[in-house]
Amino acid sequence: MKRLLDVLREECGLTGTKEGCGEGECGACTVLLDDEPVNSCLIPFAQVRGARLKTIEGLKGTHPLLETFVTEGGAQCGICTPGMILAASALPKNATLEEIREGLAGNLCRCTGYEGIYRAIQKGTTRQRPGQSSVLSPQSSVKQRRTGVRTGRGK
Ligand code: FES
Ligand code: FES
Repeated sequence: MKRLLDVLREECGLTGTKEGCGEGECGACTVLLDDEPVNSCLIPFAQVRGARLKTIEGLKGTHPLLETFVTEGGAQCGICTPGMILAASALPKNATLEEIREGLAGNLCRCTGYEGIYRAIQKGTTRQRPGQSSVLSPQSSVKQRRTGVRTGRGK
């Protein structure tokens, strides 16, 4: 059974979505399904048909968070960065630090600490704008595909 992560990287060539732990613990593989951050390493591809899917490529280089992660020192090795940015893009405009911490609780970074990341998100979400989504073919179980929704750091 193919995982959504495998299909994105190997069949669609969307290698911006990273694999870290492969077990739903790190958030490196985060994508947005129907505007909700999920871990694509936990989701069978067959369960996402008909869902709105957004990967880091869907931001097309124009989202404010792409800039603020650079200017605020939110990225070093970059493995966690696409997932962080996608999770942050799902936050409300002008998100509070508490909302940012909660929204990013399922995304781990081994390089930067979190100060630069939170600063980048605070600046980026004040200027947030919607990105583009792509739609997969029909037939999905909303309940099943939500099994990849992150539950928080270390959980
Ligand atoms: Fe770590 Fe998916 S690769 S949560
Ligand atoms: Fe390396 Fe976050 S920048 S894991």
